[in-house]
Amino acid sequence: MANQEDIFKKVVSHAKEYGFIFPSSEIYDGLGAVYDYGQLGTELKNNIKQYWWKAMVQYHENIVGIDSAIFMHPKIWKASGHVDAFNDPLIDNKDSKKRYRADVLIEDHIAKIEEKIKKECEKAHKRFGDAFNLDQFVSTNPRVLEHQKQIDEIHGKYAELMNANDLAGLKQLILDLGIVCPISGTRNWTDVRQFNLMFATKMGSVEGENDTLYLRPETAQGIFVNFLNVQKSGRMKIPFGIAQIGKAFRNEIVARQFIFRMREFEQMEMQFFVRPGTELEWFKHWKKERLNWHLALGIPAEKYRFHDHEKLAHYANAATDIEFEFPFGFKELEGIHSRTDFDLSRHSEFSGKKLQYFDSELNENYTPYVIETSIGVDRTFLAIFSHALKEETLEDGSTRTLLSLPPVLAPYKAAILPLVKKDGLPEKAREIMDALKYDFMLQYDEKDAIGRRYRRQDAIGTPFCITVDNDTLEGKGVTVRERDTMKQERIDIENLRAYLHEHIKPIQVR
Ligand code: GAP
Repeated sequence: MANQEDIFKKVVSHAKEYGFIFPSSEIYDGLGAVYDYGQLGTELKNNIKQYWWKAMVQYHENIVGIDSAIFMHPKIWKASGHVDAFNDPLIDNKDSKKRYRADVLIEDHIAKIEEKIKKECEKAHKRFGDAFNLDQFVSTNPRVLEHQKQIDEIHGKYAELMNANDLAGLKQLILDLGIVCPISGTRNWTDVRQFNLMFATKMGSVEGENDTLYLRPETAQGIFVNFLNVQKSGRMKIPFGIAQIGKAFRNEIVARQFIFRMREFEQMEMQFFVRPGTELEWFKHWKKERLNWHLALGIPAEKYRFHDHEKLAHYANAATDIEFEFPFGFKELEGIHSRTDFDLSRHSEFSGKKLQYFDSELNENYTPYVIETSIGVDRTFLAIFSHALKEETLEDGSTRTLLSLPPVLAPYKAAILPLVKKDGLPEKAREIMDALKYDFMLQYDEKDAIGRRYRRQDAIGTPFCITVDNDTLEGKGVTVRERDTMKQERIDIENLRAYLHEHIKPIQVR
């Protein structure tokens, strides 16, 4: 069986080979942690965004969507806390001159110990076979217990230092754990410093302190500052939500794992405004609803898990991540946060404008509380794409590469394939394509043997191949081949549109 690293390499190379994702500026040797979406990647990404938008905005009467500007007044980032506290702790290795996140070095060290526990378990599983009891093994095996004790101690110390913002302590912990630079292999570390993740730029022609702008590190603030505009112009009644999809920028230090951690990425965020005191109920509601959104894609439930935050940001009174099992392990895919009235209150304070709501049922003014759901488009892309990519061995022993995307997300819904490039078949195929192209994204392909064309469509996730042959010319319909089962059936041309609509329905979130 291929190991996790091989699977991940395959994901990255498949994405490039078939036009889903390219490294940015590749002919200039690329730009770190910035990627371009190619012709198929753009379709898949747009379909993911549409799935989210429909589920959040179209299917909820009380949620509306906006598109706020990326450039915003610089005071916004003072008010939100990003200027003062949106930092990562940095450390450099003096020999390799490489820069690392101190917290990530420690987390990687912990992951190595976790890997040792996993190996012990695998060894024991092999030895004991079916009689192996994992729970019993991890709670009694002395080597596993020793490793776990180490992990708990490091975790405890690390959390204490991070909470206290003790940068000297973080450096000491790195030294005490004997962590070396993966490049130079030495422990010749600089002190740990805080590094702000926002990209700054200038507006206007005059240089000066006040014209520094930041590229937004999250889309959420564009929603908060438009709270009153939307509430009043849309006559919105609490509880209601404002959704937005857009670019966000972070100067990530550890930029790796492909599109998992990028410097320019896209977020899909929704702020749900509620009566103070009801926020924890709504938090529970959105946890469930957002998980259902993921599960409706048909990916098995065991690929997802919640990770509730023990350490809460000072403005939050509950927070959780939906984690997904990526090819490199379980990692955050989406955050759900109960942000209290922090953001609206801070913007009221900094702007001098009262951001409140008059609740006619209670006959009272208050600052609404907020539940936020925040998910990365690119991480969702990676989750769906990596799960869908499979190497399948067929009954005759041959293999095929299959991208089993949910049909509604697939870049092309169907490929139109004349069996041969003569006898009037291409003309008939084009006629069918012209009739269907207003309803569906289609691809026409007449090159190579039909088997190879099927394989190409399997590899890009096209759910249906429609083959036009001589019988088609005699009014006997077309062959429709379904991607996952490879089953073929004969369908009359006049029924094709209904057939495709029936099989490519929007996903319903329950
Ligand atoms: N407004 C809240 C917020 O921005 P976050 O946990 O920092 O919260 C939300 O980000 C989501 O945005 C993450 O769960 C992740 O999916 C995505 N995201 C964050 N940083 C990212 C990065 N550097 N590259 C790709 N996606 C990222």
